[in-house]
Amino acid sequence: MKVAVLGAAGGIGQALALLLKTQLPSGSKLSLYDIAPVTPGVAVDLSHIPTDVEVKGFAGEDPTPALEGADVVLISAGVARKPGMDRSDLFNINAGIVRSLIEKVAVTCPKALVGVITNPVNTTVAIAAEVLKKAGVYDKNRLFGVTTLDVIRSETFVAEAKGLKPEDVYINVIGGHSGVTILPLLSQIEGVSFSDEEVAALTKRIQNAGTEVVEAKAGGGSATLSMGQAACRFGLSLVRGLQGEENVIECAYVDGGSEHAEFFAQPVRLGKNGVEEVLPYGEVSAFEAEARDSMLETLKGDIKIGVEFVK
Ligand SMILES: NC(=O)c1ccc[n+]([C@@H]2O[C@H](COP(=O)([O-])OP(=O)(O)OC[C@H]3O[C@@H](n4cnc5c(N)ncnc54)[C@H](O)[C@@H]3O)[C@@H](O)[C@H]2O)c1
Repeated sequence: MKVAVLGAAGGIGQALALLLKTQLPSGSKLSLYDIAPVTPGVAVDLSHIPTDVEVKGFAGEDPTPALEGADVVLISAGVARKPGMDRSDLFNINAGIVRSLIEKVAVTCPKALVGVITNPVNTTVAIAAEVLKKAGVYDKNRLFGVTTLDVIRSETFVAEAKGLKPEDVYINVIGGHSGVTILPLLSQIEGVSFSDEEVAALTKRIQNAGTEVVEAKAGGGSATLSMGQAACRFGLSLVRGLQGEENVIECAYVDGGSEHAEFFAQPVRLGKNGVEEVLPYGEVSAFEAEARDSMLETLKGDIKIGVEFVK
């Protein structure tokens, strides 16, 4: 398996590269690309860790050498939030970055599974899809918005609130990846019950958790370490699916034929072709149904901005 990380010299990229170097299956290749000149050095640094994962680093204007033969491409290239910004404020810079990187993916490794981390994910995934369509290589089963951070935050916060082990908690998070479009399905957690006040407070905390980090870092960026972990979990799940493991399930923001919006985060079963099956997200409570329905205008608006940007 060859995994390429684009934006690999950044906060997320370096954390993700470290985790992949230590956790990818033996014999894998890890390819790092960033415009920052330090990137080959990041690869040399990682290469001193004794695992059977070959690391190469590439800097400069052209990601092509990093993308050649890639099975999985994870993209965290772009700018991150500062206090007072929301994810849509990143659009002006990040939209162009994602477009140009995906144009290279379309030519160099059109069959790769692509996970987009760069915000605003609700929009950058739509941009990626349009670029791939224009190039005639779009396969909806191979493109993912990485929403795993919302899942791991939900698992952590619920475990904390209910005195559970985080590794025993699994939560579906549906919708998108910003503000009200992030919807954790707390009603589905087995053996746990919440008061209405707890549901409202936990949902709000999960939706605003990114801002919690942005404010705590006070101008120093947004979530990088927890996001590195989330992207590693997701990237490894893509690899496990590609290698034929059965029952690999993750929530992700996909073009999955949802009745709600063109792209919608929901559980998917991963396999040799990326999404093997879009799974139903199950029963929801009245609170969740209302939150789902009222997010759709925002989500569809975010998607439209991405489609129009490419057109
Ligand atoms: N999906 C999520 O849940 C989630 C969570 C946190 C952050 N993010 C997003 O991830 C992105 C990266 O965050 P970060 O904290 O790592 O930022 P960062 O500024 O630390 O790193 C970004 C890296 O991208 C590189 N870069 C810029 N343009 C590039 C290009 N054209 N090609 C290759 N590399 C390029 C920069 O040189 C830098 O090293 C941001 O957009 C942020 O909002 C997403």
